[in-house]
Amino acid sequence: MTRQVRNDVFLRALRREPTAYTPIWLMRQAGRYLPEYNATRARAGSFMRLCSSPDLATEVTLQPLERFPLDAAILFSDILTVPNAMGLGLSFSEAEGPRFERPLVDEAAIARLVPPDAEQLSYVFDAVAAIKRALGGSVPLIGFAGSPFTLACYMIEGAGSAEFARVRRLLYTRPDLLHRVLSINAEATAIYLAEQVRHGADALMIFDTWGGLLSTRAYVAFSLAYIERVLAEIRLRCEAAVPLIVFTKGGGQWVERIANSGCTAIGLDWSTDIADARAKVGRRVALQGNLDPQVLLTTPEVVEREARAILDAAGPEPGHVFNLGHGILPATPPENVAALVECVKTESGARNRAYFSGAR
Ligand code: CP3
Repeated sequence: MTRQVRNDVFLRALRREPTAYTPIWLMRQAGRYLPEYNATRARAGSFMRLCSSPDLATEVTLQPLERFPLDAAILFSDILTVPNAMGLGLSFSEAEGPRFERPLVDEAAIARLVPPDAEQLSYVFDAVAAIKRALGGSVPLIGFAGSPFTLACYMIEGAGSAEFARVRRLLYTRPDLLHRVLSINAEATAIYLAEQVRHGADALMIFDTWGGLLSTRAYVAFSLAYIERVLAEIRLRCEAAVPLIVFTKGGGQWVERIANSGCTAIGLDWSTDIADARAKVGRRVALQGNLDPQVLLTTPEVVEREARAILDAAGPEPGHVFNLGHGILPATPPENVAALVECVKTESGARNRAYFSGAR
């Protein structure tokens, strides 16, 4: 399989190499804010049917790229495919989001938990291969997984939650049980991500959506330690040095620790100033982010002003990938996304030309 892509600005920025402009892609760039996504989803009947059909997953992965000149595609799937393959019985309801039929409610359920059979996830790897073929080397493809801790949150709670109180209490009362779940998740996630690379993913991102709920001590021991395990295992399993992005929502106070995890880039939510993060991590890693997704629900003028502020904070040195600070919201007008992408490319292009001509 050829790894060459025609537009490699995203991969170069992850390596902190100079680029003509700042690359941009958006978390959840395929999804409900696009009418064409809603039409395909209605045809499929459910979100899981979309994920499990490589043809439909390819169609929705490409939809945002047909509208906007984004610099990367992201696999259309979900982080909860992995616990689903462990037999927890995933479903998505329109009103409530994800739910597991058989969550890890007690010690016996945790004792029974086993890693998934990779066969059970072959539909994801088939989707990666189909998307890679359809992209035809135009832009890189990002593969992804949830962090072991974020997966454990849903597996133990059984559904989404603002606080994930059960998981956090288990962490203090029976750390041994949580460590068992996390070890299994880390092993499964490393295999899952390495398979995505084998099928064509050019970069990987770990979504640690709920790590930011933890105390610093708990974050290091129960989330970051297992992310590190996943990263180390991927490095062993993948021949090429695949770029690895770690996104801990609410993790801005831990950027130095995250930079030491073995990742290539840190994803930042909107609460962290990129200039502050850069001052803390130096040139060790690239930074990705971090526009507040709410900005996209305003006007093109406000979007442009706020995008420029992020470019200002990121500064002229290489190593910034523009993104939102979390997933795009379903109520986002597509015109505002168009304005954002256009502004980031034009504005960063002009700044980079000025910077590099001045530096010479
Ligand atoms: O970024 C992309 O476009 C790729 C696809 C992607 C989805 N989920 C598709 C999806 C990615 C990268 C994810 C990751 C994901 N899934 C995370 C981590 C990132 C984050 O947002 O914090 C989490 C926590 C989940 C779990 C999940 N999946 C929830 C809580 C929900 C329901 C709420 C919601 O945002 O819709 C989902 C469903 C889901 N995953 C949808 C999509 C497009 C909506 C499904 C629909 O069409 O109804």
